[in-house]
Amino acid sequence: MSVVRARAVGCGHYLPARILTNDELAARIDTTDAWIQSRTGIRRRHVAAEGEKTSDLAIAAALDALAAAGLTGADIDAIVLATATPDQTFPSTATRVQHAIGMHGGFAFDLHAVCAGFIFGIANANAMIVSGLARRVLVIGAETFSRILDWNDRATCVLFGDGAGAVILEAAEGTGSVADHGVLGACLHSDGAHNDLLYVSGGPSTTQDTGYLRMEGREVFRHAVVKLAEVADEVMEKVGVTGSDVDWIVPHQANLRIIESTAKKAGVPMAKVVVTVHDHGNTSAASIPLALSIAVGDGRIRPGNLLLMEAIGGGLAWGSALLRW
Ligand code: UT7
Repeated sequence: MSVVRARAVGCGHYLPARILTNDELAARIDTTDAWIQSRTGIRRRHVAAEGEKTSDLAIAAALDALAAAGLTGADIDAIVLATATPDQTFPSTATRVQHAIGMHGGFAFDLHAVCAGFIFGIANANAMIVSGLARRVLVIGAETFSRILDWNDRATCVLFGDGAGAVILEAAEGTGSVADHGVLGACLHSDGAHNDLLYVSGGPSTTQDTGYLRMEGREVFRHAVVKLAEVADEVMEKVGVTGSDVDWIVPHQANLRIIESTAKKAGVPMAKVVVTVHDHGNTSAASIPLALSIAVGDGRIRPGNLLLMEAIGGGLAWGSALLRW
């Protein structure tokens, strides 16, 4: 049976030059490198320079992905940009990227599912390609969480970083089997009953200012280990594979302990998990495409590999996707 698949044809990323270490944070607030590393795995994170915007990060990642795919902006007919830190309330940051990469037709929009944004982006791009709405979609995760952190709140400011990653999906013919390249399945969930566990304390229709990130870390952790294990199982069952078929887990990079727990429950050894949290911290919607691009770039992820991606964040919103590279 011939089916349309959304096949990945290139990926890229961008990290701001400035690296902020745990020791630098420990010099400013009541924390230690030992606490941050033992509780999260994080050693350092990148922080955007003054004036460097989410769109700047997204454009650099998009151009990197286009170069990897041997394409130009004119070859793209849709952009889905996952971000919780847009340049402005409107217009969408995606339309800035559209203009900057020389994409004169098609459409571009922002998607907001916080840390799960890239999975939601992949699922939406896949649906647009399979339904015929678009043929080649640039999916970007880009964030400048440094702009919404309360740098006096040690429980949150040590956790996050800035960055961007991008993947290009294009319509390709498949057989409908798990051997096909491209997106094989995705599962999305959200539960607004948990809005208060992870949120930003401002916004245009409430305080009219940007606000700061607030998190009940322990509670989010509790939800994460349960929901990520469930949603990983759900997508594997939907597609008809098991943990032993998975070549790489490319997880959301929030906390090494959450990553290890999810891999264990999926039956995948840590040697098959892409971990970047120690160098990037939690970059929200950017974390999965950043990890993906780094592991493709260093040759770990190869054509034909089966990738399991999963993420959870504010909302709560969570999801998973299986993609054969
Ligand atoms: O991407 C979106 C999803 N987000 C997540 O997945 C984050 C999920 N949560 C977590 O990763 C973890 O809950 C944290 C890393 C945020 C916190 O780790 P924890 O092991 O759950 O620590 P805790 O919140 O239970 O805090 C333990 C102690 C507290 O002190 P007391 O009450 O035991 O005296 C905190 O005040 O650690 C203290 N603490 C710190 N100490 C030094 C909190 N932050 C710090 C810090 N440095 N930066």
